[in-house]
Amino acid sequence: MTETATTPASASARKIAIVGSGYMGGGIAQVLALGGARVALSDVSAEVAQNNYDRLLVESDQFVADGLFPAGSTEILKQNLWAAKDIEEAVADADFIEEAVPEVMEIKHQTLSRISAAARADAIIGSNTSTISIAELSRPVSNPERFLGVHFSNPSPFIPGVEIIPHAGTSASTVGAVRELVHAAGKQTAVVKDVTGFVLNRLQYALFHEAAQLVEQGIATADDVDTLVRTTFGFRLPFFGPFAIADMAGLDVYNFCYQSLQKDFPERFATPAILSGLVEAGKLGTKTGAGFLNVPADRIPELIAYRNKAYVAMQKLLDELGPAPLG
Ligand SMILES: NC(=O)c1ccc[n+]([C@@H]2O[C@H](COP(=O)([O-])OP(=O)(O)OC[C@H]3O[C@@H](n4cnc5c(N)ncnc54)[C@H](O)[C@@H]3O)[C@@H](O)[C@H]2O)c1
Repeated sequence: MTETATTPASASARKIAIVGSGYMGGGIAQVLALGGARVALSDVSAEVAQNNYDRLLVESDQFVADGLFPAGSTEILKQNLWAAKDIEEAVADADFIEEAVPEVMEIKHQTLSRISAAARADAIIGSNTSTISIAELSRPVSNPERFLGVHFSNPSPFIPGVEIIPHAGTSASTVGAVRELVHAAGKQTAVVKDVTGFVLNRLQYALFHEAAQLVEQGIATADDVDTLVRTTFGFRLPFFGPFAIADMAGLDVYNFCYQSLQKDFPERFATPAILSGLVEAGKLGTKTGAGFLNVPADRIPELIAYRNKAYVAMQKLLDELGPAPLG
């Protein structure tokens, strides 16, 4: 949460409606309202929306007391958030509407149909769906070129990334407008294609799937798998994604490792063509100045210095916080 988050909505502020003001919808409403938008909450009834409004203010007070939200946040939320009596009232004048109802196709379709009927024809409509195809969800939406996935992560006030998922018919101007709106609330975005699981959950579940197999096969306990993930490759992930990590490790090294892995697990660990192609072309990552990402040779010392500083800072933060209370 940045300091700029504490901005009361001006007369020209964006008008946003959240449909489904539960766990995710409530957090998204906090983020956007603290970013200066005027945000309506709606739910199955006026009472539920009002209760969620009250809950968000109480939660905000606690976040301020804990130093997680800037001072003054609850006052900003009081000015910028409001509880609507129903979906129709919430979306009537909205520029952007975010649907965050349960992950059940029938509920999503009914809700999107109501939103679409009551919203302005030019209002942008986003869905916070975790996994459902955006094209499939778009069916009841009129002018579907203004519809897309806008996937916040949990807990949305504190996780910086938002996955943006246009379907094949979403207009480029819709994607641009949503990215701008989300960036204005202090978040980062990445745009991905509309496939089941999108990118975030496909990666997250690939890791979970392998971890579950290691435990099922008695190779390691759940506790030991978690320890290894946290303290080895997972330690790098706040700073570098898998492609930057592979480039820094050396793509020839990855290629060799794949030879062992694919011998024993040919279905899951066949060497990706995108990797062998780069190796054959002599693009071995950072050490050759080209790989998945192209880091110029003269910036390598700077990159290594950043990496080392980042890992030491990460360890200091972990020492300061102490272990997560899981035991
Ligand atoms: N919880 C997570 O970790 C998480 C993370 C990312 C995305 N998501 C996605 O966000 C969406 C919402 O998930 P959640 O965890 O916030 O669920 P939730 O159950 O906390 O909230 C859903 C809200 O929708 C309301 N609702 C139900 N039917 C409705 C209707 N017909 N009209 C209006 N409101 C209705 C409920 O009363 C509730 O307040 C889902 O699509 C989920 O997959 C969840």
